[in-house]
Amino acid sequence: MGALDWDRRLFDELIPLPDGTSYNAYLVKGSEKIVLIDTVDPTKTEVLMAQLEEVPSIDYLIVQHVEQDHSGSVPAVLDRYPQAHILCTPKAKGMIVDHLGVAEDRITVVENGETLSLGDCTFEFVHAPWVHWPETMLTYSRQDKILFTCDLFGSHLATTDLYATDKERVYEAAKRYYAEIMMPFRAVIKGHLEKLAGYAIDTIAPSHGPVYDDPNFILDAYRSWVLDPPDNLVVLPYTSMHGSTTAMVEHLTAALAVREVAVAPFNMTVTDLGKLAINLVDAATVVLGAPTVLTGAHPNVITAAYLTGALRPKLKHAAIIGSYGWGGKAPEQIMGLMSSLKVEWLDPVMCRGLPAKEDLDALDRLADAIAERHEGL
Ligand code: FEO
Repeated sequence: MGALDWDRRLFDELIPLPDGTSYNAYLVKGSEKIVLIDTVDPTKTEVLMAQLEEVPSIDYLIVQHVEQDHSGSVPAVLDRYPQAHILCTPKAKGMIVDHLGVAEDRITVVENGETLSLGDCTFEFVHAPWVHWPETMLTYSRQDKILFTCDLFGSHLATTDLYATDKERVYEAAKRYYAEIMMPFRAVIKGHLEKLAGYAIDTIAPSHGPVYDDPNFILDAYRSWVLDPPDNLVVLPYTSMHGSTTAMVEHLTAALAVREVAVAPFNMTVTDLGKLAINLVDAATVVLGAPTVLTGAHPNVITAAYLTGALRPKLKHAAIIGSYGWGGKAPEQIMGLMSSLKVEWLDPVMCRGLPAKEDLDALDRLADAIAERHEGL
């Protein structure tokens, strides 16, 4: 069950959705009990309610995650099925009350490892906090070996494919989703992956995008994104007002390329933030290119620095290049925004106006320093 949202282009008023998204819900009919796992975004409530028209009763509504794109239609489902009880983690209970206005007596909490018999089918609840909110849990169907995972392993991808058959397309969408949503919790996700290694899983059913009938496809991808060392890649978000920073970015990009270091430059005026996030998953170094506005970095680069710090990628090294008219503190400002990262800061290269020969030489030295650190990657 659930809804496709072909036209949605933004999530959280921040994250671009080039391929729309889906909100997946799952109806499981046991021999004795009927369960609905998750609901849909409140903008698609009518779609779900139409799908439920032929379902006379629901015993339990499992809320794996309280974010509104999955829980927003919970009140409508509870109204339709007055006998239905919500099952969720203890942490989720208060959030459901606060975010959705649901009465407490409609909610039953389940502990980690607790089971629920539907008759011929048994569910096991697997608490998995911080995927990417604190209240999240997964649901494992022991007979069918299906793992329902809420956001974990999901992808913002609207498609009529029930299963992930177009693997290249799903990989890109799932990596984008991981980068934007899961990467800040990489250490926690690592623990969840280790925990899931103890389960026999035939199918992974996330709450966004296609279902995985080849679970190792997405499990291997996550292991790579979470555990692998970074690649020989520099991500270079920048913006330029009068061409000086662009000249520096182009010089540094060429200097790195001849030193066999891959570079992904992103002009923040036009870039898709999801593309930037995807590249941050594997990058060893970030270089921010910032012209100076008033006394600080251009707001476009402030955004890039803030997001890079917040997403907490595997970066090892960082540097700042850019220009100013008469002064400013762009490097200090950017470093402050990224203070959460354990990176080695290389010497910044800031020039007054257009880059002169000594500035280009400094960029060459920066390229040398990066190439030296990337040896062996
Ligand atoms: Fe798809 Fe965190 O909600």
